[in-house]
Amino acid sequence: MDEFLPVMIIGAVIGVFSLLFIVAYILLQRSKPTDFDRHMKDGEIIGRLMVYAKPYWKQFVLVFFVMLFSIVYDLVSPLLVGHIEKTVAGEFALSYLYSIVAVYVGILLVSVICTYLQSMILQKTGQKILSALRQDLFVHIEKLSHAQLNNIPVGKLVTRVANDTNAISYLFTNVLVTLLKNTLVIFGVLGAMLLLNYALTLMVLCFVPVLVLCTAIFRKFSRTVHRNVSNATTDINTFLSENLSGMKITQIFNREEQKHSEFLERSQRHLRARYGRMFVFSVFRPTVYLLNISCVLCLLYVGARGYIKDTTFLGQTVDSAIVVSFYMYISRFFNPIQALAEQFDALQKSFASAEKIFTVMDMVPEVVDEEDAIELETMEGRIEFKDVWFSYKPGEWVLKGVSFVVEPNQTVAFVGATGSGKTTILSLICRNYDIQKGQILIDGIDIRKIKISSLRRHFGQMLQDVFLFSGTIRSNILLGLADVTDEQVMESCRYVNADSFINRMEKGLDEEVRERGNNFSSGQRQLLSFARTILHAPSVMILDEATANIDTETEVLIQDSLEKMKNIGTMLIVAHRLSTIQHADNIILLSEGQILEQGNHQQLLQLHGRYYQLYTLQFQKNQLQNN
Ligand SMILES: Nc1ncnc2c1ncn2[C@@H]1O[C@H](COP(=O)(O)OP(=O)(O)OP(=O)(O)O)[C@@H](O)[C@H]1O
Ligand SMILES: [Mg+2]
Repeated sequence: MDEFLPVMIIGAVIGVFSLLFIVAYILLQRSKPTDFDRHMKDGEIIGRLMVYAKPYWKQFVLVFFVMLFSIVYDLVSPLLVGHIEKTVAGEFALSYLYSIVAVYVGILLVSVICTYLQSMILQKTGQKILSALRQDLFVHIEKLSHAQLNNIPVGKLVTRVANDTNAISYLFTNVLVTLLKNTLVIFGVLGAMLLLNYALTLMVLCFVPVLVLCTAIFRKFSRTVHRNVSNATTDINTFLSENLSGMKITQIFNREEQKHSEFLERSQRHLRARYGRMFVFSVFRPTVYLLNISCVLCLLYVGARGYIKDTTFLGQTVDSAIVVSFYMYISRFFNPIQALAEQFDALQKSFASAEKIFTVMDMVPEVVDEEDAIELETMEGRIEFKDVWFSYKPGEWVLKGVSFVVEPNQTVAFVGATGSGKTTILSLICRNYDIQKGQILIDGIDIRKIKISSLRRHFGQMLQDVFLFSGTIRSNILLGLADVTDEQVMESCRYVNADSFINRMEKGLDEEVRERGNNFSSGQRQLLSFARTILHAPSVMILDEATANIDTETEVLIQDSLEKMKNIGTMLIVAHRLSTIQHADNIILLSEGQILEQGNHQQLLQLHGRYYQLYTLQFQKNQLQNN
C-alpha cells in the first residue's frame, strides 16, 4: 500500500485542480459575449485566408523544411544527454566525451540557426500578407456608401484595420508554425520514448487523459475570455476615436468628469476581461506543470526502485541514462501540449479577427455602377429632379416628391429651415445615396446609368463642414492631383481670394495643416475648399454654405469669390444669408422635404409668401445690426 501513496497524493492534487477549473468555467459562463457571435465556419475562414497566403507558398514550404531541422534537436538532445550521463557514470575517455558534447553543440547550433531562419522568413511573409490584407480592407471601405459608413463607428473600423489584421499576421508568423511544430514534436517525442522504453512511455501516457481534459476545459474557457478582451478593446477604441475628436466640446461643456467616468468604466471592463484571461492562464499553466512534475516524480520513483532494489519495471531495466533521457522527454512532451492548447486559443482569436474583417469585406457596397453604366466624358450641366422621394431610414421621408430643373450655366439656390433637406438634395446629385422613388437626370441621363467615378469627376463639392487632411495647404488643394505647378495652385487661390491669407503665412503653400485643419479659421477652411474645387475644374459647382459665423472681412472675400465662381458653369448653392443669392437664376425654397416656392428673387418677393417673410426678417435684422 505504501508503494502507491505518492501516486494517490498526486491524484488528489490533480482532482483539486480539475475542480478549480470547473468552478472557474461555470463562473465564466455567466459573462457571455454580447455583440459578436461567430457564424462563419473555420473551413471557410481558412479558405479565404489561404487566398492571401497562396502567393507565398514557396516560403511556407521552405519554413517547413527548416522547421524539421529544428525539431531534430528536441528529439535527439535527450538521447545525447542520457548517453553522456551513462558515459560519465562508468569508465570513459575524455576525448570520447568531448566528441559527444561536440555533436550535441553542433545539433544545438543547427537548431538555433534554423529557428532564426524560420522566424525571419515567417515575419517577412507575415508582414507582406498583413499589408495585402490591410490594403484590400481599406480599398473595400473606400467603396462603401455614405449610408453604410454612417452605420459603422470609426473606432470599430480602426480596430478592424489595425488590430484585427495584426491578429491575422500573428496567425501566419506564429500560430500555424507553432501548431505544426508542436504536433510533430509531440509525436516525435512519443516515438522516441517508445523506442527507448515502452513501459515508461505507457506510464507517461497515463497522464494524457487528465491533460486532455484540462486542455479541453481550458480551450472552452479561453475562447470566451479572448472574446471578452477583444470586445472590450473595440469598445475602448470606438470610445477613444469619438471622444478625442470631440474633446473640445467636452471641455467647453465642462463634461470632463463625466467623460472620465465613462472612460473609466470601459477601462475597467477591459481590465476585468484581461484579468479573466490572466486567471485562465494562471490556472492552466501550473496545472500542466503539476502534471509534468507528477510524471517526473513517478519516473524518479520507478528509477529509484530500479536502482536501489535492483528490480525491473514491467520487465525492462531502468538505468540512469534512461531516467535522464525520459526526464527531458517528459517536459518536451508536456510543453508542446500546453503550447498547443494556448495556440489553439490564438488560432481561435485569429479566426475571430478574420471573421470580423471578412464581415466588413462582405458588406456589399450599396451604391455601385450598374452593368450598363456609361462614361460621361463631358457634362453640360443640366440637372433635373423628377418627383424624387428619399429617406435615410425606411419610412421617414426626408424628401417628398421634389421636382426641379437646373439649366446649364444657371445658378440655383436652395433655401429653407434647418433640416428641410438642402444638404440631402446636394448629396443625392453626386449619388452619395440612392433615391427610393423618382429620377435624377444629368444631361437627360439617369444618374444610375452613369459611372459613379465619371459622375463625381464633373462635380466640385464644397461641403458644409470643410474637411482638411493633415498635410500642407498645397496637398489639401491638390488632393493628389498630379502635374500641377505651384503657380497654377496660387492662381486658383487668387481666384477665390485665398491668396492673401496664404501669403501672410510663414511657409505659404507649405504651411502645415493639422488634423481636420484645426489650425485654420472656418472662413479660411472654406476659402481653401473653394480653391480646391476651382483647381479641379468641375462642370457643376456645389456649395453648401457653412452656417458658422465668419468675420465680416472673410465674408466679403467669400461673397466676391462666389460671384466669380458663378461665371464658371452650373452652380448650386445652399445659402443661409439670402443676400448671397439675390442674383441667382432660380431660388428653391424647401420646407420639410417639399418645395414650397420657386422663382428668382424678384418673383419670390412678389409672391409675398414664405420667402418674402424670410427676406424681410433678415433685412430688418441687418438694419438693426447696422444701427
Ligand atoms: N446621415 C443621415 N442619417 C439619417 N438622417 C439624416 C442624415 N442626414 C440628415 N438626416 C436627416 O435628414 C433631414 C434633412 O437633413 P439635411 O442635412 O438635408 O438638412 P439641411 O436642410 O441641410 O439643414 P441645415 O440647414 O441645418 O444644413 C434632417 O431631418 C436630418 O435629421
Ligand atoms: Mg445642410
